[in-house]
Amino acid sequence: MVVLLSTIIWTIGSISCPKECTCQYLTVSCTGKLLEEFPTIIPLDTKQLVLAENKLSYLPSLELNFLSDLIYLDCSSNTLGKDLDFTFVSMIKLIYLDLSFNNLTQVTFGTFSQLSSLVVLKLSDNPSLVEIEKDSFANNTLLRHLDVSRCSLMFIDTSTVRDLPNLKRLGIGENPWFCNCSFMELCSWLKETGITISGEFEKDVFCSR
Ligand SMILES: *[C@@H]1O[C@H](CO)[C@@H](O)[C@H](O)[C@H]1NC(C)=O
Ligand SMILES: *[C@@H]1O[C@H](CO)[C@@H](O)[C@H](O)[C@H]1NC(C)=O
Ligand SMILES: *[C@@H]1O[C@H](CO)[C@@H](O)[C@H](O)[C@H]1NC(C)=O
Repeated sequence: MVVLLSTIIWTIGSISCPKECTCQYLTVSCTGKLLEEFPTIIPLDTKQLVLAENKLSYLPSLELNFLSDLIYLDCSSNTLGKDLDFTFVSMIKLIYLDLSFNNLTQVTFGTFSQLSSLVVLKLSDNPSLVEIEKDSFANNTLLRHLDVSRCSLMFIDTSTVRDLPNLKRLGIGENPWFCNCSFMELCSWLKETGITISGEFEKDVFCSR
C-alpha cells in the first residue's frame, strides 16, 4: 500500500507541470509569463527551473526548497527585493543561480551560506543593491564566476572576493565605487591575479569620488 501510494505520488509529481510553464527533461521553463506568484506543482525531480522575466517579488522558501535536486535556477528580470536570507536553505546541489535584473538591496552571509555547490552567481543589474557584507560568500568556496556589475555598490571588502579559491571571473563594473585605500587594495589585488574582469575594467571601473 505504501509502495503503491508513493508510486502514485511519484507519478503525479513527475507528470505534473504548472499550466503557465513547459516541462521537459527535468527542466521547467516559465519565461515571460507575467507570473506574480511562484508556480505550484513543479515536479519534485526538477533539475533546471527558469522563472526569468516575470513579476515575482519574493521566493517562497518552503516550496523552493522542496526542489532539492535543483542545480540551475534562473530568476533574472523579476522584482525580487528586500533580503533573501533564509530563502535558499536546503538547495545543496544548486550550481547556477541568476538573480540579475532584480531589486535586491543587501547580501549577507546568510543569503547564500547554504549553497555550498554554487559555481555561478549573477547579481548584476540590481540598482538598489548597496551592500555586500564582508564574508557574504565565505561558504561558497566553489564559486568560479561572480557578477555584481551595474549595482549601487560603493564598497566591497577585498577579502570577500580574495578568499574565493576558485574564482576565475568577476564582474564589478559600473558601480559608484568609493575610492579610498580599501578600493585601491581591491584594484591592485585584481591586477595581480589572473581573474578575468568581465566588462572593460579600465573603462567601467572608475571611482565616483
Ligand atoms: C525596489 O526596492 C526599493 C527599496 O526597497 C523600493 O522602494 C521600490 O519600490 C522597489 N521597486 C520595485 C519595482 O519593486
Ligand atoms: C556551510 O556549508 C556547509 C556545507 O558545505 C553546511 O553544512 C553549513 O551549514 C554551512 N554553514 C552555514 C553557516 O550556513
Ligand atoms: C573605505 O570606504 C568604505 C565605505 O565607506 C569603508 O567601509 C571602509 O572602511 C573605507 N576604508 C578605509 C581604509 O578607510
